[in-house]
Amino acid sequence: MADSTETADLRALDSEGMLDTVLALPDHLRDALWRIESARLKPMPDSSAAIVCGMGGSAIGGDLAAAAIGDQLTKELLTVRGYELPSWAPAGAAVLCSSYSGNTEETLACYAAAEALGAGRVVATTGGQLADSARADGVPVVGLPSGMPPRAAVGYMFCVAAELASLAEASLPIRTEIDAAASHLENRSEDIQARAAEIAGLIGDAVPVFYGAGLTSPVAYRWKTQVNENGKQPAFSSPLPEASHNEIAGWEGSRRRLACVLLSDVDQHPREARRFEVNGDLIEPHAAAVIRVKAEGVTRTTRLLELVMLGDLVSLHLAARHGVDPSPIEAIDALKARLGAP
Ligand code: F6R
Repeated sequence: MADSTETADLRALDSEGMLDTVLALPDHLRDALWRIESARLKPMPDSSAAIVCGMGGSAIGGDLAAAAIGDQLTKELLTVRGYELPSWAPAGAAVLCSSYSGNTEETLACYAAAEALGAGRVVATTGGQLADSARADGVPVVGLPSGMPPRAAVGYMFCVAAELASLAEASLPIRTEIDAAASHLENRSEDIQARAAEIAGLIGDAVPVFYGAGLTSPVAYRWKTQVNENGKQPAFSSPLPEASHNEIAGWEGSRRRLACVLLSDVDQHPREARRFEVNGDLIEPHAAAVIRVKAEGVTRTTRLLELVMLGDLVSLHLAARHGVDPSPIEAIDALKARLGAP
């Protein structure tokens, strides 16, 4: 960490070691590859689509994998967040049901729906009802290490979703890229930590709005959800170019209470790159800050994962700044308790 005072601040309220878990992303990626290998999953080459079912921290891996694979995808890789598979879901789909706890009701409902559809199923979980059902049904399970908040298992969820794409022959495997990205993140860790402190300082007490496009679109959503859950503060995200056709007009009423964070990529469509520039310029007079972050690195996987780690660290800095412990998510726990069993 570039500044030891910053580290001490981050650790002061971090009751469950979230900082160390975020910094362990390279290890998580390597461990995930090993666990996937050990699960000896069978190819599902006849699958017409690959579908990742999950919620929150267990769903984002699907979006991130689709973004990392990008135009190398030859079939749909879709993330479903909810109780049902899409009405068009083909019987021959390959379905990954991903739930860190194994007890998320929406994911359990999709697991049952996938069986009814006759889909090929795979499960990623630490246990719970999902693991019990999968074992009873003979569905292969990628076992995840327990003991972390689900959202901190992003590296695992990303790797399993990417593996689903390869099992369904929706893409070539990206295991080598993931392994290289892990080494890259390890080498860049200090710089990423320093940049995270800087970005959080620029956001300050404003409500952040994260923009991404293409590769960075699900990353912007990840940053938003991490600021929500770790920082316990409102945050929003929008994809470009769409936001430049509507949301940009709303900044006029922001009265400098919102901070605009533009997450671009070195290998962006040139018109998207131009839109990042112009949107930022036009938002500037109305924003508390306009912060431009560009993903660098050789592969899409490396750039994506570096931005994920950066955003996770930004959220921890914002948590420290607002005097909150990043790990507990009382609102989500209260909501689940109040809903009760379905
Ligand atoms: C908590 C978190 C949540 C959970 C979500 C689904 O850290 O990130 O978004 O991921 O409530 O729970 P699981 O992941 O157990 O299926």
